[in-house]
Amino acid sequence: MPAPVSDALATLLSRNAAYIPGGVSSINRVIDPPISFVKGEGAYLWDIDGKRYVDYHAAFAPHFLGHNFAPVNAAVIDALHGGESLFGAGPTQLEGRLAELICRNVAAVEKVCLQNTGSEATALAIRLSRAITGRQHVIVVQGGYNGNGDELACNVFNTLAEIGPRVSPGEYPLRPLGAGTTIEATRFVHPVNFNDPESIRYVCRRYPVAAMITEPILQNIGVVKPRAGYLEALRMLADEFGFLLIFDEVKTGFRHAIGGYSEICGVKPDLVTYGKAVANGFPLALVGGKREYMDYVVHPDPAKRPLVSGTYNGHPVAVTAAIRTLEYLIANKTPVYQHVEALGRQMETGLRDIFAAHGVTASIARQGSAFSYYLMPRVPEDFHDIIEEHDFERDVALRRAVIDLGVFLVPIATKQCSISAAHTADDIRLTLAQFDRAVATVWPRGAAASQR
Ligand SMILES: Cc1ncc(COP(=O)(O)O)c(C=O)c1O
Repeated sequence: MPAPVSDALATLLSRNAAYIPGGVSSINRVIDPPISFVKGEGAYLWDIDGKRYVDYHAAFAPHFLGHNFAPVNAAVIDALHGGESLFGAGPTQLEGRLAELICRNVAAVEKVCLQNTGSEATALAIRLSRAITGRQHVIVVQGGYNGNGDELACNVFNTLAEIGPRVSPGEYPLRPLGAGTTIEATRFVHPVNFNDPESIRYVCRRYPVAAMITEPILQNIGVVKPRAGYLEALRMLADEFGFLLIFDEVKTGFRHAIGGYSEICGVKPDLVTYGKAVANGFPLALVGGKREYMDYVVHPDPAKRPLVSGTYNGHPVAVTAAIRTLEYLIANKTPVYQHVEALGRQMETGLRDIFAAHGVTASIARQGSAFSYYLMPRVPEDFHDIIEEHDFERDVALRRAVIDLGVFLVPIATKQCSISAAHTADDIRLTLAQFDRAVATVWPRGAAASQR
């Protein structure tokens, strides 16, 4: 039974709903059970009623160093006390310093444009690719998320009825994430299967493709890894057909390595987008890439020059946070990444053992600090595997049971969990103990045998 909502929470819910549609400023933040958080510190969150949670949501992944990371906060406060402001004219020392740090430490980035959100960054990357190639068509991946922009907000979670059986080679029907977009009218966007180079070839033979944008490892439907050779095949197809390969590392940049998943897989995209962990929770994102491509932003021919503008681009608060985050990661690279890898392994092994001990069919997918469990016998290789095999209902039930026990994962099926550098082995042990109890409530003795 869900816990009753406290008076404080009930008041907040109705007051917010009176003035904000749905009561929250991002529809992705609507959760059931309803919770309002009032404080975050390191690996923990506290709700309006004072209950503490070990946090694995990390606000959809930005808090790689933990909530309210003191060195980043201190740098931001110092910058404001020192007279930094949003000047709105001319270059700033801060943006130059961050850009240099990024270019020196991220192999895929030779020049960079700073933005505020991942959605702005992905939209700009697409615009750049069109200006560079003079083509219109874009390939996206079914089950990938590339932001809320009119064109890219499509085909993440769909039902079988919406997209039909697995298509390969071929493309899925375009399914906008919401009403009111132009996407159906333009038909420039082609969703294909993940891990499926032949579908990219199929689209390229039919349309002049400007770009393929993809998370190199899908992290908006859990953790879905590229098969050996898949990302290399994307690089070869981009070179063969002359489209730009854009790695959307908004979720993976800094989290898996300073150079993102691209550094791990060794495949260099033409353009890359970062966001989230770049400023450890402050709003900053970026588009970077090869110098020859990024310099289109100042192309002498106005017909080839994409617009890059934004009142808040390079905002001193977010830029300061990103500089301090990156400096910290550079100085502590080995211990930070070793620490989260060790915790990730502890979580992966522990979860696997718990599901096995309860007789529950499950698989665990993980990359470093990012993990997900699937209630199916193997880890998925594309979105279709998930809709065909995953037990969505029990997934949500398990998440709710764990939340009730003081461990916060977003209560949406398959959503990926993020460990931060602030977590400890004790946090993981506590989390696993609560998972053990939660699994026992969702699969009472004997019920696991009847699992589909
Ligand atoms: C891979 C990816 N790209 C782009 C975005 C959009 O970023 P934002 O929400 O900052 O606009 C997200 C957000 O979840 C994401 O995960």
